[in-house]
Amino acid sequence: MRKKISIIGAGMTGSTTAHWLAERELADIVLVDIIEGMPQGKALDLLEAMPVIGKDVSIVGSNDFEATANSDIVVMTAGLPRKPGMSRDDLLAANAEIVRSATQAVMKGSPNAIFIVLSNPLDVMAYLVMKTAGIPAKRVIGQAGILDSARMRAFVAMELGVSVENIQCYVLGGHGDEMVPLVHYSNVAGIPLDEILSKDRLEAIVQRTRQGGGEIVSLLKTGSAYYAPAIAVTQMVEAILKDKHLIVPASAYLSGEYGLKDIYFGVPVQLAASGVEKIIEYKLSPEEMAALNKSASGVAENIAKIKN
Ligand code: LAC
Repeated sequence: MRKKISIIGAGMTGSTTAHWLAERELADIVLVDIIEGMPQGKALDLLEAMPVIGKDVSIVGSNDFEATANSDIVVMTAGLPRKPGMSRDDLLAANAEIVRSATQAVMKGSPNAIFIVLSNPLDVMAYLVMKTAGIPAKRVIGQAGILDSARMRAFVAMELGVSVENIQCYVLGGHGDEMVPLVHYSNVAGIPLDEILSKDRLEAIVQRTRQGGGEIVSLLKTGSAYYAPAIAVTQMVEAILKDKHLIVPASAYLSGEYGLKDIYFGVPVQLAASGVEKIIEYKLSPEEMAALNKSASGVAENIAKIKN
């Protein structure tokens, strides 16, 4: 039997995720949104594309959470995107309401699902889903690190004229402007970035990566990025469904790793059928640790706001 993935929120990110998932024939898909007809229309349109690419998956749209029952994976994209000039944190109050009630609704029919969270502010929303669902933290993962690292990889590829396949980048920390691109662990065919790029060029890439989401928001004006976030989720889904034991940066619950506790935060994790099966701890320089701590204190402050 095929696996089932429900995507909560059929906006640009949710529907683009459905598109990538279907194109890879990874699972049957349910798209849920509160807007009448919209998830149904997008699902039907995508379903009608399948004969052309020869993929056998069912794609259903619904306004009703009952359609999500027995999901193996739930992708949470519900909530508002940023508008130009807004930070992800500005979405906190509105999105906390939406994400909390959507999680409660989904849990009724899919108590054993693994959740991948994209709603912003990302780390706080992942924490909220975990607490609301009341499930083991390894089954709730925030998508951010693959996206942030992919942006950095794209910028390095453009700078050096090298294939994106040769470039590995690791961006840790909260999914906000204080995220921490690791310039020594990141590399081009094994050569650390800080040995290949001048200090100035490297700093420019680090800054552009940190503001990568905002750069797209200010160009689009009506919403935030969706192609890259959606393919990042797809990579996570594939790692889970295929039990790949794949190491990627993602937002995970920390219980002492990197000296941090009771927080969702971007770190390298190993993804497999059970969800986060391991958190990898890099040896970091004092400067990198200081940057991580700064990012963590911002995330912790916002987590405190949703605790009451
Ligand atoms: C971004 C948003 C979606 O980074 O968080 O593009």
